[in-house]
Amino acid sequence: MKENLQELGFFEAVEERRSVRIFDQESPFDHEQVKRCLEAAILSPNSSNLQLYQFVRVPESSPLKDPLAQLCMRQKAATTARELVVIITRRDLWKSRAEANFQYLSETAQNQSEKKVKQARNYYKNLIPKLFGKYPGWTFLKKIIAWWVGLRRPMVREVGETEVRISVHKSASLAAMTFMLGMKAVGYDTCPMEGFDSKRVKKLLDLPSEAEICMIIGCGKGLPEGVYGPRFRVPTSELIEEK
Ligand SMILES: Cc1cc2nc3c(=O)[nH]c(=O)nc-3n(C[C@H](O)[C@H](O)[C@H](O)COP(=O)(O)O)c2cc1C
Repeated sequence: MKENLQELGFFEAVEERRSVRIFDQESPFDHEQVKRCLEAAILSPNSSNLQLYQFVRVPESSPLKDPLAQLCMRQKAATTARELVVIITRRDLWKSRAEANFQYLSETAQNQSEKKVKQARNYYKNLIPKLFGKYPGWTFLKKIIAWWVGLRRPMVREVGETEVRISVHKSASLAAMTFMLGMKAVGYDTCPMEGFDSKRVKKLLDLPSEAEICMIIGCGKGLPEGVYGPRFRVPTSELIEEK
């Protein structure tokens, strides 16, 4: 399969990617390519390099595949998918991921200036815990502090709990995009979905209570009838602005 694959360049993949809702059931599907594209997705930029996400793979051979597709509101993009990739956020892992970053930076300290190590320590041991820690009234206090500091100098305002969750979802979404473009580049199609019963999916997949589902991505070789219409975008002038 791989030998015949003519991989697409970046702009070709961007232009040819569509959300495909019906996948071919007959042609072989190389699940190794999903792994490869997920490994590429992991290289996506992510906030503070905390990598607060995980990818749960549910291939067609899994007994959970059909029940999961049912929980995606029986969308064809899920029922016909050869594999479903559930992208979950793991905000709760912030401590271990901050520690991993700090350890890495400390271990590579010989190549870094003392100042850089100090900066890394301050970032991962001081700032990140302040942003991610959860205490009663903490969001309110952080917002007040941000407002107060912001009176004198530029200050990040998005410090509340909701904004932290949004930030984690932003990073997960960027990884999702890299994954989908990768899949297109190797000749496969995808459909990102947010139409699912998150509560039941979490139970079915036995996900940790703190996990949130960012997206479920149906994967396979798309059938022409799986593209529901020509691509529509509002005029570029409405989307791109120059100041
Ligand atoms: C976060 C997100 C959630 C989506 N959820 C669904 C969904 O549940 N079902 C579906 O058929 N398409 C879903 N889509 C696909 C969009 O409808 C699609 O990307 C959009 O119509 C543009 O079409 P294109 O992807 O073919 O360019 C979703 C896309 C995104 C980014």
